[in-house]
Amino acid sequence: MAMRSYPNSRLRRSRATSWSRAMHRETVLTSADLIWPLFVTGGKGVEDPVTSLPGVSRWSVDGIASRAKEAVELGIPCIALFPNTQADLRSETGEEALNPDNLMCRAIKAIRDACGDTIGILTDVALDPYTTHGQDGLVNDAGYVVNDDTVAVLVDQALNQAEAGADIIAPSDMMDGRVKAIRMALEMGGHHNIQIMSYAAKYASAFYGPFRDAVGSSGVLKGDKKTYQMDPANASEALAEVALDIAEGADSVMVKPGLAYLDIIWRVKERFEVPVFAYQVSGEYALIEAGAAAGVADRDALLMEKLVGFKRAGCSGVLTYHAPVAARILNG
Ligand code: PBG
Repeated sequence: MAMRSYPNSRLRRSRATSWSRAMHRETVLTSADLIWPLFVTGGKGVEDPVTSLPGVSRWSVDGIASRAKEAVELGIPCIALFPNTQADLRSETGEEALNPDNLMCRAIKAIRDACGDTIGILTDVALDPYTTHGQDGLVNDAGYVVNDDTVAVLVDQALNQAEAGADIIAPSDMMDGRVKAIRMALEMGGHHNIQIMSYAAKYASAFYGPFRDAVGSSGVLKGDKKTYQMDPANASEALAEVALDIAEGADSVMVKPGLAYLDIIWRVKERFEVPVFAYQVSGEYALIEAGAAAGVADRDALLMEKLVGFKRAGCSGVLTYHAPVAARILNG
């Protein structure tokens, strides 16, 4: 690199005017970089606000279809679905996840009817919205989440979503070997073009609280998820997770949460030829809203600075509850 020295180089020259700043901008964020996570609830015509996520609601299936149309209008290419399963349909083993007429499948079909293939539908594979204990898999008598038996159920859950019309299967459970098992089942089932976006590096995080409220698992969750989600102190292990998931058949990988893990995003992007997505999780959303409400800074400015940071770190896109807000800002 050529040696730069003052005053031959004055880096402020390019910053002096708005047109020049625009011309030198290295990272551009658009609404196509956004994936919008949505919570589905039962009933018809229902909008049920999530108290811990101000501005976010659970929508009944008809409302979800409207949100999908809104996403298309805003240029958001993909939505992610999470169900709030009614309490009496939850069980120790989460069978409702396999019901072809569950909330998730009904929402997928309603979106498809409303939007055709103008929007991508990403579905969550994990049992926590369906179990009475709030863990992502099957638990044994000691309360330990067992791996291989859980994977067998997750495969059936993924196939159920695929048959309902999901475009991207996103396993968030962190069991070992689930990507391989799901990929094989999708291939055998003729679903050759269904993508898998694996939650490859998902950390046992304090930032998930409002999400657990939204899907109704916070009150029931016993213990924590540290025997399957990653230790926030680990980075090499994240690269190992990503390598395994790619080898097992993931088309893209996710790092979750977002802001505290920008180094992981960067390292994954440097090491692997695979699209990387960040999940700006519920606690991150809530903190932006709380910070703005407390007068720390303007909400939109906080939000856009964080989102562009994900893109700069190497992300192909970001899952964010702020997707419609951000798209409106970006679309002017
Ligand atoms: C669990 C799941 C979680 C989130 C997405 N899928 C929470 C958890 O691991 O307990 C969190 C997302 C968020 O906080 O926005 N399968």
